[in-house]
Amino acid sequence: MSRKLDYVSEPKDKEKFTEGFNKFYTSFARVYDLVVKIFPFWKHWLKATLPYIQGPRVLEVSFGTGYLLMQYAAEFETYGLDYNEKFVAMLQGILENKGLAADIRQGDVQALPYDDEFFDSIVNTMAFSAYPDAVKAMSEMHRVLKKGGKLILVDIDYPHSRKGFGMTMTKAWIAMGDIIRDMKPLFEQFDFEYTDEEIGGFGSVHLFIAEKH
Ligand SMILES: C[S@@+](CC[C@H](N)C(=O)[O-])C[C@H]1O[C@@H](n2cnc3c(N)ncnc32)[C@H](O)[C@@H]1O
Repeated sequence: MSRKLDYVSEPKDKEKFTEGFNKFYTSFARVYDLVVKIFPFWKHWLKATLPYIQGPRVLEVSFGTGYLLMQYAAEFETYGLDYNEKFVAMLQGILENKGLAADIRQGDVQALPYDDEFFDSIVNTMAFSAYPDAVKAMSEMHRVLKKGGKLILVDIDYPHSRKGFGMTMTKAWIAMGDIIRDMKPLFEQFDFEYTDEEIGGFGSVHLFIAEKH
C-alpha cells in the first residue's frame, strides 16, 4: 500500500470548502461546545498540549469554543484567532465573565495579522485538517513563530503501525470531510524539527511538537 495514496488531496475550491465548514460551526457552535466539555477524551487530547506551551507570548490558532485557551490564558500573554465569528464572540464573552485578558480576533490562518517571529508558542488542535491549503497555513504559522519557538499541533493521522481500529477511526474522519495529510514532508519543508506521538483515538490522534530552527 503506497503511503501517499492514504492521504487526502486538497479541495480545488478552497473558499467553498472553508465556507462549508464555517456554516456547520455557526449552526452547531453550542453543540460543539457541549461535545468538547462532555467527552473526556476530547479534553484529554487538548490538554496534552499544556506541558509544552512556553511563553511569554502564546497564540492559539482555531481555538473553537476556547476550552483549551481558558486553561492557560492566566499564565501567558495570550492571543487567539479563529475564522468563525460565533466562536470568537462566545470566547470573548467567557473571558470577560471570568476577568481574563486575551487578544481574541476573527481571522484566517492563511493571513495571520501578527508580526514576523512574534510568538514563543503556537497551539493548534483538531483544526489543521480543516484547512484547505496546508502550505499557506503552515507558512503563516512558521512566519509568526520565533526561532526556537514551538508549534504544538494536535490532529488526526494514521496510527504509526498502520494497523488496527485506529485505521478505521482515521478513515471515519476522512469520511466526515477532514483533509488528513502526511505531516512529515510538510514539517520538513519548513525545516521544523518535530516529534510525533499518538495520544488517543486508537492511534488516530497525534500530538506533534515542532520546533522552528
Ligand atoms: C474542529 S474545530 C477545532 C476547535 C478546537 N481547536 C478544538 O480542538 O476543539 C476547527 C476550528 O478551525 C477553525 N477554522 C477553520 N478554518 C479556519 C481558518 N481558515 N482560519 C482559522 N481558523 C479556522 C474553525 O472555525 C474551528 O474553530
